Amino acid sequence: MHRDFLEIPDFSSDELHSLFVLAESMRAGRYDKKPLAGKSLAMIFMKSSTRTRVSFEVGTWQLGGAAWFLSPRDVQIGRGEPIGDTAKVLSRYVNGIMIRTFSHQDVVDLARDASVPVINGLTDYLHPCQILADILTIRQHLGTHEGKVVAWIGDGNNMANSWLNAAWRLGFELRLACPEGYEPDAALLERARERATVHLVRDPHEAVRGAHVVTTDVWASMGQEEEQAERERAFAGFTVNAALMARAERDAIFLHCLPAHRGEEVSAEVIDGPQSRVWDEAENRLHIQKAIMAVVMGGEAL
Ligand code: CP
Ligand code: NVA
Repeated sequence: MHRDFLEIPDFSSDELHSLFVLAESMRAGRYDKKPLAGKSLAMIFMKSSTRTRVSFEVGTWQLGGAAWFLSPRDVQIGRGEPIGDTAKVLSRYVNGIMIRTFSHQDVVDLARDASVPVINGLTDYLHPCQILADILTIRQHLGTHEGKVVAWIGDGNNMANSWLNAAWRLGFELRLACPEGYEPDAALLERARERATVHLVRDPHEAVRGAHVVTTDVWASMGQEEEQAERERAFAGFTVNAALMARAERDAIFLHCLPAHRGEEVSAEVIDGPQSRVWDEAENRLHIQKAIMAVVMGGEAL
């Protein structure tokens, strides 16, 4: 029986700890196994990507395997071939499928019909690989995620939803400052509150007070481009700038999944400043995804 990685709670909290340790051993150059030798990964991208594509492709290669990039222009899904048929066919060729698409249900359907592991590389609902990379970055710079306060400023989007899933599994304090009408998923928020302190507020200043991590994302995600002007109005006052960072802990770090829009959700002085850890964060995508692939495709034990 194979395992998929569609959302952070697919791993138990103990498994997530082991996954971080595995990724850290890879980052430190202490892991020289080739668990994907002779194996291949199909990568379906129905949306654009720089980091996800390159980190999965390079990561697969570093673990001994090969990755195949499938763009919507080239594959038959773009012309309406059912996702389930695609799942069954790709399962005959490859040992794992990574998918980035719009509807989360498509990823669930793909996983249901595939006989190989499926990894979620972003949907409108979740971005689980990114949040695990973010927590790896918190561990890298703050030693641990335990007992830390994470402040999310902006849209209650796929990133915010995955932060809620991470808080549910790992129990750190999460404060979300979102404008009215842009809240994260209500069910994920309620579930996270079972095991973590989660505050949803309207004022970014309230969210960052004493926070160890301040993080944000674009105001209009992929697929929402036509809402840009309306969102710029709704998110006025939600820019992470030096004045906002000054309210956080003195040693607080700033994270952003990238791509970023300087002057919108974050000022240039913050993202390019001394508290920013965004380049390590981007690098950590490679390490955490290698750990995930080693486990779900390569038989590495957690
Ligand atoms: N952060 C992230 O997923 O980046 P890409 O869209 O470039 O893959
Ligand atoms: N929320 C953003 C993340 C991009 C990596 C989007 O979905 O476009």
